[in-house]
Amino acid sequence: MLYRDIGLDRPVSALSLGSWNTFSRLSRRECAGLLSLAVERGINLFDVGYYWDKPDTEEAFAAAMRTAGLRREQYMLALKLWLWNYPEQSLAEQAKASLRRLDVDHVDVVMVSRPTPEVDFAAFCEEVDALVRAGIARAWGVTNWEPEQIEAACAVLNGRSPCLVQLQYNVARRNVVEDARYARLFASGQSALCAAFVLEGGILAGHLDRDRVNPSDFARGERPRERNIARDAGGVREQIRASQPRLREIARAFGASAAQLAIAFTLTNPATATALIGVTKTTNLEENLGALRLLDSQQEWLPLLESLRVTAAHPRLFDPVKHE
Ligand SMILES: NC(=O)c1ccc[n+]([C@@H]2O[C@H](COP(=O)([O-])OP(=O)(O)OC[C@H]3O[C@@H](n4cnc5c(N)ncnc54)[C@H](OP(=O)(O)O)[C@@H]3O)[C@@H](O)[C@H]2O)c1
Repeated sequence: MLYRDIGLDRPVSALSLGSWNTFSRLSRRECAGLLSLAVERGINLFDVGYYWDKPDTEEAFAAAMRTAGLRREQYMLALKLWLWNYPEQSLAEQAKASLRRLDVDHVDVVMVSRPTPEVDFAAFCEEVDALVRAGIARAWGVTNWEPEQIEAACAVLNGRSPCLVQLQYNVARRNVVEDARYARLFASGQSALCAAFVLEGGILAGHLDRDRVNPSDFARGERPRERNIARDAGGVREQIRASQPRLREIARAFGASAAQLAIAFTLTNPATATALIGVTKTTNLEENLGALRLLDSQQEWLPLLESLRVTAAHPRLFDPVKHE
């Protein structure tokens, strides 16, 4: 495993595991086996949260951790914080509810969603900072914030910057992360990238039938094939689906799978501290760990992946009640 120092108690592993529509699809025993294997192979960060379509995920994760017999000091937690009920529910109240469900007394990082324009930004930043001062989290990070918002938050907090910036980043969806605004932010070295949606919800790994089910359709009873995946920011999903066989072909030439090459791609960006991937099968986890060995030959395969680029967009604000 590779590790990178992002200012936490210990360096973060190059692969980390996401929990949205993964752990909640497993039995407790299966999930315990997956988590045990992840920790055994050196993965030390798990991204957890309360999800609109899988509200029992935190409890399922906690139960599996207990079954696996893993101790809290063996792993770090990144906790998603949403603004769906904000400011009626404070960030501290939301975080404490998650801590109870997770059966832990702190998380390592709170991953705070992008605030809306209506939010009192300075007060909001102080509220995030207070979570760290109160020991609820060791550090803070952000999900899908604009780079200007991150700079503004650092100014409010006297230079205390988010240790992780989670953004959608994969072999096809590159332009947002690689544009000059984020590039400048990451070049400063104050914040590192947590690459998410690395496999386009599984499409890049060959699950070509997957698609998004939005909250309103979900509420009407529609269910996704296999699992739900993120919205298609920029309307580029069909292009990504169509390019997957090409990714598979390039990967094969290097003795790799499409999933391995897609994961390795995100790790070639010097901004990336960790690639946050969703996994439900131990065989897939073992396979994905093999992505690391591809990094030595990146000069050979990186140019071949250029043709997979699409022009994606930064995701719009998400709220399962107000926005889709
Ligand atoms: N910031 C954002 O806007 C954003 C957007 C999306 C996701 N995220 C975060 O990123 C985390 C991970 O994203 P994700 O789970 O949506 O997407 P992902 O990592 O792009 O895809 C995960 C899916 O790919 C499949 N997969 C994994 N390894 C495979 C392999 N070796 N072979 C074949 N299939 C494989 C799995 O399907 P099966 O489970 O069916 O095996 C898995 O559910 C989430 O938990 C979430 O926190 C953030």
